[in-house]
Amino acid sequence: MRSLIVALAASAVAVRAYDNNAPYSKLPPMGWSSWVALGPGADHPVFDFCDEGSVRRAIDAFVSDDLGLYAAGYRHFHLDDCWANHERTPAGDLIPDTTNFPNGLTPVIDYAHSKGLAFGLYTSGGIFTCVGLRPGSEGHWSQDADSFASWGVDWVKMDWCNHGFEDPKTTYPLMSKALNASKRHIHFNMCEWGDENPWEWGDPIAQSWRMHGDHVGTWESTAKVIAASAAIPRQYSGRPYGWNDMDMLETGNGLRAAHANGKESNMTDDEWRTEFSMWAISASPLVVTTPIMNCTNESPHPANYCNVSLVQQESLSPCIEGYSFGCNLNGSMWTSEGCRGEFTCNGYSTLCDQDGSGQHLCECGNVTKCVPYITPLQREILLNTEVIAVNQDVTPQGAPVTPGDLSIWARNLTGGDIAVALYNPQAAAVNMTVSFAALGWTTGATVSVRDLWKHADMGYFKGSYGPVSVPTHATVMLRLTQHS
Ligand SMILES: *[C@@H]1O[C@H](CO)[C@@H](O)[C@H](O)[C@H]1NC(C)=O
Ligand SMILES: *[C@@H]1O[C@H](CO)[C@@H](O)[C@H](O)[C@H]1NC(C)=O
Ligand SMILES: *[C@@H]1O[C@H](CO)[C@@H](O)[C@H](O)[C@H]1NC(C)=O
Ligand SMILES: *[C@@H]1O[C@H](CO)[C@@H](O)[C@H](O)[C@H]1NC(C)=O
Ligand SMILES: *[C@@H]1O[C@H](CO)[C@@H](O)[C@H](O)[C@H]1NC(C)=O
Ligand SMILES: *[C@@H]1O[C@H](CO)[C@@H](O)[C@H](O)[C@H]1NC(C)=O
Ligand SMILES: *[C@@H]1O[C@H](CO)[C@@H](O)[C@H](O)[C@H]1NC(C)=O
Ligand SMILES: *[C@@H]1O[C@H](CO)[C@@H](O)[C@H](O)[C@H]1NC(C)=O
Repeated sequence: MRSLIVALAASAVAVRAYDNNAPYSKLPPMGWSSWVALGPGADHPVFDFCDEGSVRRAIDAFVSDDLGLYAAGYRHFHLDDCWANHERTPAGDLIPDTTNFPNGLTPVIDYAHSKGLAFGLYTSGGIFTCVGLRPGSEGHWSQDADSFASWGVDWVKMDWCNHGFEDPKTTYPLMSKALNASKRHIHFNMCEWGDENPWEWGDPIAQSWRMHGDHVGTWESTAKVIAASAAIPRQYSGRPYGWNDMDMLETGNGLRAAHANGKESNMTDDEWRTEFSMWAISASPLVVTTPIMNCTNESPHPANYCNVSLVQQESLSPCIEGYSFGCNLNGSMWTSEGCRGEFTCNGYSTLCDQDGSGQHLCECGNVTKCVPYITPLQREILLNTEVIAVNQDVTPQGAPVTPGDLSIWARNLTGGDIAVALYNPQAAAVNMTVSFAALGWTTGATVSVRDLWKHADMGYFKGSYGPVSVPTHATVMLRLTQHS
């Protein structure tokens, strides 16, 4: 009877959301964003930076077996406010930054797709974007949506800066319609910071929407977003293709990452586990922004010496040394006559795939070598597939068991298990006891309890589980199974 009710409830809500078949969107999207995580070469990550080299290297790291993100289910690769050219073309088209993406975005988007990833881009609903002051999509809805579609974009986040006095409730539908008309199945992520209760009107037009302002990796910010999640009315909890987005995770970031919005990420290990636990039980998208590789620059061969040879040709026009490609005296190389491909220059591999037939200068030497890397704590948290399983479900998002009391949260899971988070925002340890009756189970029920951070079965219990001592700012994540 119980599972029938759950099944009916799940199918009743499924029809309300905007199921447009966007990839990896039926369940809360899991992925990675460039926001505080990329730098040119081996430099420390720069706030909101991306270029072709760093994006290619990040894709390689993302999918590497060594890191394990792909194996744990992460599929979304997002560029934030870093990619667009500061000027539109004379025809008004939005184009990728011509310095950082001299070959456009399609080579890196194709590359992400070839690795099984969905590719996401950022824009704003105003005239300019928020951080980069790049062009926003206002007044260019169809033109930009068609560009995104033609490049193969799978996810579009639309921010809400520099827009005048427009109402998001009338502006966001314009981009939603344009994306739909582009005929590509694109996930639309609304980012008006939760100000206008987007959970009340986001369903027909978007697959996810930010339910709060920007999250940064400080305890103050994390606690605020969690409290805001608790306040979302139950009837507007997430559902397939319609998720309340608590914003990017900064899991384990400290000085390795750039500061977001001027804030240094500085939480304790328990606080980072709390961030992941509460995002998971709230059925929020799990999109982490963290450096995922260690890089070193290999210096180029001394200047005024250059030799170059073709490794693999990528153009139809022939590549003939000395005629369509060759060396400059200063240690750089050139190609012309439409010769494009992969070269070895001074012993280093160099990609020269700029479109067109004119003469191009190609980088000759500075090679950035990266090894995939996240810290042991990030590995413990981001790859905790038991906590991820609490997130990756089609049921309504979790909420406090007693409205207004943030300490004990529950999410009903498909199949009848219940996920429980014992969350302690207090400045001291607190003892908590979860009553099975409060979860909707009969008082006589026998319930087995698994601790998802300890990865341990805690035993069988009747009536309640606890008291459990929860340290300050920590969260104990449990999965409960009813046996009778
Ligand atoms: C457009 O919207 C319709 C109705 O919601 C949906 O069925 C369809 O999948 C959407 N198409 C695209 C390309 O998103
Ligand atoms: C963390 O950093 C924020 C600003 O980035 C600061 O306000 C806060 O005091 C710091 N917290 C700790 C525990 O260092
Ligand atoms: C990556 O860098 C960190 C320090 O930032 C270091 O502790 C770690 O050993 C490095 N890993 C590799 C594989 O080089
Ligand atoms: C190298 O020489 C070419 C012309 O031979 C010039 O266009 C290019 O800017 C030079 N590059 C550097 C880094 O000086
Ligand atoms: C080309 O450059 C590489 C790396 O500097 C060097 O090892 C190689 O001997 C050079 N080849 C020729 C033919 O000069
Ligand atoms: C090459 O690397 C050096 C040292 O790491 C750096 O100063 C220089 O700007 C780099 N050149 C390019 C074109 O990236
Ligand atoms: C779980 O489902 C029960 C009905 O079986 C319902 O009473 C309860 O509110 C749900 N809990 C949550 C957190 O959605
Ligand atoms: C939690 O309970 C234990 C015994 O079960 C007790 O020793 C401890 O003082 C309690 N802590 C708090 C903060 O109430």
